[in-house]
Amino acid sequence: MKLVETGIILKNTSVAPDIYDMTIRLPEISALAVCGQFVEVYPDNGVNLLARPISICQIGDGTLRFVFQAVGAGTRLFSSLKAGQRLRVLGPCGNGYPISEEKKFILVGGGIGVPPLLETACRLKDKGEVDVFLGFRSGSFLREDFENTGANVYIASDDGSAGFKGNVVGLMESAGVQGDVIYSCGPRIMLKAVAEYAEKRGIKAYVSMEERMACGIGACVGCTLKIKDGNGISNKKVCKDGPVFDSREVVWQ
Ligand SMILES: Cc1cc2nc3c(=O)[nH]c(=O)nc-3n(C[C@H](O)[C@H](O)[C@H](O)COP(=O)(O)OP(=O)(O)OC[C@H]3O[C@@H](n4cnc5c(N)ncnc54)[C@H](O)[C@@H]3O)c2cc1C
Ligand code: FES
Repeated sequence: MKLVETGIILKNTSVAPDIYDMTIRLPEISALAVCGQFVEVYPDNGVNLLARPISICQIGDGTLRFVFQAVGAGTRLFSSLKAGQRLRVLGPCGNGYPISEEKKFILVGGGIGVPPLLETACRLKDKGEVDVFLGFRSGSFLREDFENTGANVYIASDDGSAGFKGNVVGLMESAGVQGDVIYSCGPRIMLKAVAEYAEKRGIKAYVSMEERMACGIGACVGCTLKIKDGNGISNKKVCKDGPVFDSREVVWQ
């Protein structure tokens, strides 16, 4: 079930260049949300902008936390809002990550795909060992938050300014990482590399696809993804059938 709720912003601070950490009081949506889901946030600024999909980073007591990058009109508007102002939100949207009963979990995030893995780490921490691999272009964010969950955290950056110099899958390869299940979110090129990594080693992997969206509620075809379907291929809607898919089902080219 999805709801529209108008929530008071409790906090909105910059945590890295163009990256914002926002907490909104949303008692109804937060009560329904699970890790890996997203919400649609309405830029109510009088301009007819579509709602913007933003992943749920953490679920609190009546609150939701989001970490987002200001890239265009909608997210820049969100970045300018102050505590006490309100935002209209539709959610929770999408399927979320299935929580497995395995024992060794690998979380792999890239850039602005890192936030939804934080709530996932929180949900997995009592089930087994959690290794988190986070990749950034430069620097890092949310590192301490992941460490505070008790997970083992490993960082990679393209420019070597934080952790391993190179991409996050390169870091996993160099460390020979093994586990039972991978949960991943990030750019498509990274997710494809994660899918290949998992397949070679016989590890189950779930990928969260952050395709561009229009309506965000399954009413258009703005977010179709090709999925293997028996001997053929079918189109799925990322906003409605995803954003999380089994990596072996995705047609990657
Ligand atoms: C399921 C899902 C979850 C997401 N979660 C987050 C999140 O937690 N934090 C976050 O910062 N962003 C997230 N995004 C991306 C976010 O929705 C877009 O950055 C945002 O909609 C851009 O809106 P805008 O008005 O600021 O920019 P626009 O003016 O609409 O676009 C600015 C630039 O960003 C590009 N862009 C827009 N959407 C995407 C996209 N989905 N992927 C890549 N490029 C895009 C545009 O082509 C353009 O170049 C998510 C997207 C999806 C689909
Ligand atoms: S964005 Fe319209 S169907 Fe997914």
